[in-house]
Amino acid sequence: MSNKTFSIGQNIQRIDAHGKVTGETPYPGDIDMDGQLWLKIRYSDRAHARILSIDTSRAEALPGVVAVFTAKDVPVNEYGLVTKDQPVLCGPGSNIPGADIVRCYMDNIAVVVAETEAIAAQAIKLIDVEYEDLPTVFDPEAAMQDDAPQLHEKNPNNILCHYRIRHGDIEAGWAQADVVVEGFYETGYQEHAYLQPEAGLGYIDEEGRVTVVVAGQWAHEDMWQISHALGLNDDQVRVIYPAIGGAFGGREDMSVQIVLALAAYRLRRPVKTIWSREESILHHHKRHPIRIYAKWGATKSGKVVAVQAQVIGDAGAYNYTSSKVMGNANLTVSGPYEIPNVHIDTYGVYTNNIPTGAFRGFGAPQAAFSAESQMNKLAEALNMDPLEIRLINSVREGSILSVGTPLPAGVSMPQVIEQCGLESFWKKVGERWQYNPPTQPENPALRRGRGIACGYKNIGYSFGFPERSWAAIELRGGVDIEEVIVRAAGADVGQGAHTVFMQMAADAVGVPFHKVRLIASDTAETDTAGSASASRLTFMSGNAIRGAAAIALEKWANEERPAIGEFLYRPPKTTPYDPMSGRSEPNFAYGYACQAVEVEVDIETGHVRIIKVISANDVGRAINPQQVIGQIEGAVVQAQGYALMEHLISDQGRIKNPYLSTYLIPTALDIPLEVKSVVLEYPDPIGPWGARGMAEMPFLPFAPAIAAAIHDATGVWLNQIPFTPERIVTALRKQGIGVV
Ligand code: MOS
Repeated sequence: MSNKTFSIGQNIQRIDAHGKVTGETPYPGDIDMDGQLWLKIRYSDRAHARILSIDTSRAEALPGVVAVFTAKDVPVNEYGLVTKDQPVLCGPGSNIPGADIVRCYMDNIAVVVAETEAIAAQAIKLIDVEYEDLPTVFDPEAAMQDDAPQLHEKNPNNILCHYRIRHGDIEAGWAQADVVVEGFYETGYQEHAYLQPEAGLGYIDEEGRVTVVVAGQWAHEDMWQISHALGLNDDQVRVIYPAIGGAFGGREDMSVQIVLALAAYRLRRPVKTIWSREESILHHHKRHPIRIYAKWGATKSGKVVAVQAQVIGDAGAYNYTSSKVMGNANLTVSGPYEIPNVHIDTYGVYTNNIPTGAFRGFGAPQAAFSAESQMNKLAEALNMDPLEIRLINSVREGSILSVGTPLPAGVSMPQVIEQCGLESFWKKVGERWQYNPPTQPENPALRRGRGIACGYKNIGYSFGFPERSWAAIELRGGVDIEEVIVRAAGADVGQGAHTVFMQMAADAVGVPFHKVRLIASDTAETDTAGSASASRLTFMSGNAIRGAAAIALEKWANEERPAIGEFLYRPPKTTPYDPMSGRSEPNFAYGYACQAVEVEVDIETGHVRIIKVISANDVGRAINPQQVIGQIEGAVVQAQGYALMEHLISDQGRIKNPYLSTYLIPTALDIPLEVKSVVLEYPDPIGPWGARGMAEMPFLPFAPAIAAAIHDATGVWLNQIPFTPERIVTALRKQGIGVV
C-alpha cells in the first residue's frame, strides 16, 4: 500500500451533513416502534427529604396507565459515572441504604408508563409522596462546616474531594516577590443547551437484549451502568446512539437510559420518552459554579514566583464527574506557566443544589478565568505587556508542572502565544512586543478595548484512569481492497468525529475515502472507544484505527480475505495526585490555545459588543480543517454565552429560569462580528498523524480575555462570571464611570 495521503488534511464533507440539513436524519426523539408506550418521570418536590411512602394507586387507576415503577422495582438502585452515589429512583423499599432520601429537586421518584404521553404526564401528578423534610444546605462553604446537614454518609463535612498541591516553598516564593496580586473569582452555572433535549426508546431486540436507543457520549459506559442497575450481564443490554443533537459534557452522565431500560425490561414492550426543554434544564447537571481565592507573586522582571489558591466547587447533590472536574481545576488554576512555588487546595462539595459535572473544558475554564485574570493584573501592576509576561512564564518543552513532573513532549504554548499576538494586536520589534490599541469610536459612551489570555488542557482521561480505545478494520476485496469497514464506537455528538474516523481509516489503509464504511455507537457491534469527552476521540480512536489498520494490512498481505485487524490502544500511563503533595503524572497529552479579543463597552448600558476574536490553537494536525474551524467558532460562541450572557438562577436549590426565553444564549445577532481561527500544527509526538484533541481548548481563554478587554476599555475588572450588563454597570458606577 502506498503511504500517499488521500484524505487527512482535506475538508471532506461531513457524512452526516446532508441528512441533517434536509431533516431526514432521525434523532432519538424521532424514532418510533409499533406498539410503543410512553414514559414520564415524577421528580422530587423537595431539596432534601426522606420519602416515607409513595402511593401509586391513583396513578395506576387512571385508564391507559400500564405500569408505575418506584425504588422497590429497581434491582440495584444506584448509579453514577464516577461513584454510584445516586439512586435510580428515590424512595423506600430498595436494597441500597440512603436510597429513600431525595437530595435535590432533580431526583427521580417514580416512572409512569402509559398508552400515551398525555396520560403518562397526567398520571405522574396522581402519585402521592409523603416526605419528612430534612435540613438543607445550598452554599458549598456553609456545607463544609461541622454543623451543616450531611448529604452522604461517606463524606464528612460534605467534602466529595480535596486535592492539595504543595510544590516548592511558598514562603520563599513570597519573599522573592516584588509585587503580589490577590483576587477573588466567582463563576456561574452553565446549561449545555444542546439542540435536542433528552429522549430515547427502550425495547427488547431480536436477540432478547434490553436495548436503549438514546443520545449519549459513551455507549459502553451507558450499557455498563444500565446492566448494573438492572442486575443483568453486560451482554443482556445493548445501547445504540443514532444522531446526537449536541452534548458538550451534558450527556456524559445519564438521564433517561436506566428508566427506559427498566420499563422495557419489565414490560417487554417498546417504551419511549422525550423530555421537554424545561425538563432538560431542570434534570441534567450543569457546569460548576466555582469560587477561587487566588494570590500570585512576581518579581520586577515579571517572573511569577508564587501562586496560592483555594478552589471551591459546588458539586450539588451527587458526584457526576465533579471529583474529576475539580481535579482538573486544581491542575489548571496555576495556568500554563512554570511556577516554582505553588500551594493549592481544591474542594468539591456536596450541597442540595442541582448536580454539576462535565461541560466543555471540564473545570479548566473556571480555573483559567482566575489564572489569566491574575496574570493580566500582574502585568498591569508591573506595567508590563500582557503578552510578554506570558512568554516569560509560559511552560516550554520539559517544563515541570505544579505536580512536580514534566509536561509530556510537544509543548507549544510559547509558539501559540506568539502566533496569537502576531495575528492580532501585537508586533514584535526587536525582542519586545508592541501592543497596538484600538481606535476609539466617536460616541463617548462607547469604549473599545483589547485583551489576551491563553490556556491548556489535557487530552484523554487523567490521573490514573485506565484509558483505552478499541477499533477494528475489516478489508474486503480480492486483488484490490474494495471496501474498508471500520468499527469504532465513539459518539459523534455533532463534532464530526465519524467523518474524521473515516478519514483516518482511509489514510491508514491507503484507500480513497469513498471506500470506507463506518459502524459506530452500537454496543452489539463494537467494543469500547471511551467517551466523546476530554477532547479525546480524534487522538484515541485515531491511534486505535491506525493500530487496527496495520494488523489488517498484514493479514491482507498474507492473503487473508477478509482481513480483519482489531486493536486496543492504550496511551502512556498517568498517575493520581499524591494526597499530601499533589505529585502526579496527570496527563499524557495536552492542547494549547491563546485568544485575543476586541470589545466595545457601552458605559451607559453595560452592554458589550464583541468586535473581533483571534483564536490561535495548536491542533497538532488538522485532520479536517473545516471541522477544526467549526469547533473553534462553536467554542468561542459557547464561551461568549458563558462569559457575558448565560445566567442560570438557583434559589434554595430550585432553578428559577429553566427556559431558553429567560436563560439567554447567544443568537446570530449576538455573536462576534469576526472570529479569526489560527490553526497551528505542532505535532503531538504520540498523536495519530500528530493530531491533538482540540474541541475544548478554544473555550478556555475566552472569558478572561474578555475581562481583560473590558478592563482595557474602561479600567474596571470583572471578577464574577457572567459579566451581565447589570454587573458591568455596577462595576463602572463604583468607579464613577458612565454616570449620566
Ligand atoms: Mo467533556 S466536558 O470532557 O464531556
